[in-house]
Amino acid sequence: MTTPITVIPGDGIGPEITAAVLSILEALDCGLVFEEALAGGPALAEGLDLIPDATMKQISNSVATLKGPITTPIGRGFTSVNVSLRQQLDLFANVRPALTVPGATSRYADIDIIVVRENLEGLYAGVGHMRSDDGERAELTSVVTRTGCTRIVNYAFALARRLGRKKVTAVHKANIMRSTSGLFLEVARDIAPNFDDVGFEEIIVDNCAMQLVMNPNRFDVLVTTNLFGDVLSDLCAGLVGGLGLAPGANIGDGLGIFEAVHGSAPDIAGKNIANPTALLLAAAMMLEHLGMTEQASRIRVAVRTVVGSGKVLTPDLGGNASTAAYTEALLRHLL
Ligand SMILES: NC(=O)c1ccc[n+]([C@@H]2O[C@H](COP(=O)([O-])OP(=O)(O)OC[C@H]3O[C@@H](n4cnc5c(N)ncnc54)[C@H](O)[C@@H]3O)[C@@H](O)[C@H]2O)c1
Repeated sequence: MTTPITVIPGDGIGPEITAAVLSILEALDCGLVFEEALAGGPALAEGLDLIPDATMKQISNSVATLKGPITTPIGRGFTSVNVSLRQQLDLFANVRPALTVPGATSRYADIDIIVVRENLEGLYAGVGHMRSDDGERAELTSVVTRTGCTRIVNYAFALARRLGRKKVTAVHKANIMRSTSGLFLEVARDIAPNFDDVGFEEIIVDNCAMQLVMNPNRFDVLVTTNLFGDVLSDLCAGLVGGLGLAPGANIGDGLGIFEAVHGSAPDIAGKNIANPTALLLAAAMMLEHLGMTEQASRIRVAVRTVVGSGKVLTPDLGGNASTAAYTEALLRHLL
């Protein structure tokens, strides 16, 4: 039996790292069939819409999509394809694990934190964008719903239970943002007792940022609203050696888009030095989502072996290997 997977290579370093990851998935020979789709700049360059209908249809009909990064022009041009895909497909949970890869240079040796970020609401929902004509005033509205908070907090607790994790920490700013963050915290407090096998704590976001830097091992699963989750998950990526190692999954009902946390890295695009590991670990999350845990584990073992040996590393990990050479090393260690 074959499983169709939509692949969006994206732009910038996207096509390079996607090709690397597909070569590894193909070597695993687990019955996946890859169907490419366009979105963002590459779609516009072909004279298509930013997110063509065909792409939306293809993603909706696939149980999983593997997506490369897509550039969003700053302050002008089109709005984020990533945000639009999440909103249009109702991908409400953004799951970003930060797990130490032995051998990767980082400040801590044993990080294992999962950030569960609400993916659709808050300040990223694009509600009420306004710039006054005189350029003096700008506004943006944050909308948080009880339904959205309930869905993400339940998801985080259920994930913690499924993975045998000990604690969920709700990250908020309810002392200042009493309406939005207050609602999120109220919902988290209400739901926590339903999961009495998982611990619960709450923490204010600024303290959380400091604690993550000073004492990250006190955290297990973090659940938070959209903006806080975006920032804190990059911080967590920094704890394990940088964006090149940080995968993410956007999850909805029966749908998932799996991607690296990082962006299109235009500064290194086309140089054959991008690290494909984050997208590869996202592919491992995708395999797990599809029930292929053994193949997911083979990917993680290969990454740990290659990075741990320290011989063939891309520049972001302190080496001088090309994307192609690093991918070859991974393929050699795919047991
Ligand atoms: N999900 C997505 O598609 C996504 C996510 C974040 C940012 N973006 C977009 O990407 C563009 C660039 O964003 P940015 O520069 O702020 O962040 P970025 O993540 O692209 O790059 C930040 C830094 O990390 C490095 N880096 C990132 N990924 C790397 C990798 N795999 N290997 C080696 N080095 C890597 C880059 O070279 C750069 O120095 C923006 O248009 C942004 O909107 C897209």
